[in-house]
Amino acid sequence: MSEMVIEEVKSTDRKKEILNFKIDLIKKRKMSGSLIPLLQSAQDSYGYIPEKIIYYISELVDIPAADIYGVITFYSQFRLQPLGENIIRICEGTACHVNGAKGILSVLKNQLGVGVDETSKDGKYSLQSVACIGCCSLAPVITINDETFGNLTPDSLRKVLKKFTNVEKEQV
Ligand code: FES
Repeated sequence: MSEMVIEEVKSTDRKKEILNFKIDLIKKRKMSGSLIPLLQSAQDSYGYIPEKIIYYISELVDIPAADIYGVITFYSQFRLQPLGENIIRICEGTACHVNGAKGILSVLKNQLGVGVDETSKDGKYSLQSVACIGCCSLAPVITINDETFGNLTPDSLRKVLKKFTNVEKEQV
């Protein structure tokens, strides 16, 4: 959702927006305990939790926006930025860790220009860290969208990324 679209959320549209967030939860219960489902619903609607929506929610539940930011940043399920077109997950579980995940992560950061839990400026890549992908015998492992790449070395990863970005360019 672009900033421009968010700008369109004017006071006359507020009721509609509120309905989108299943705000009835709040109205009926008037409980700050509804904050989490409300944030989940907002993220379902937008793909992330836009700043303006945090302020709307703040008014509605009578919780300072700063506290809501605190909740959002505490729970890894919430995002303050939209996800990129491609999700890259690096496993930092034990098997991957002892087989060189650190070096793999370093290549990912350098090649994509993005850190863990960040999205590249062009919106193409989001990098996430996970505890185990479930194929420890292939450690170190990453996934790019639904595809798994194992037994990686920094060099083989560079090749994977080069191939992947070339395919992406061809599809444009
Ligand atoms: S520890 Fe990395 S796949 Fe299991």
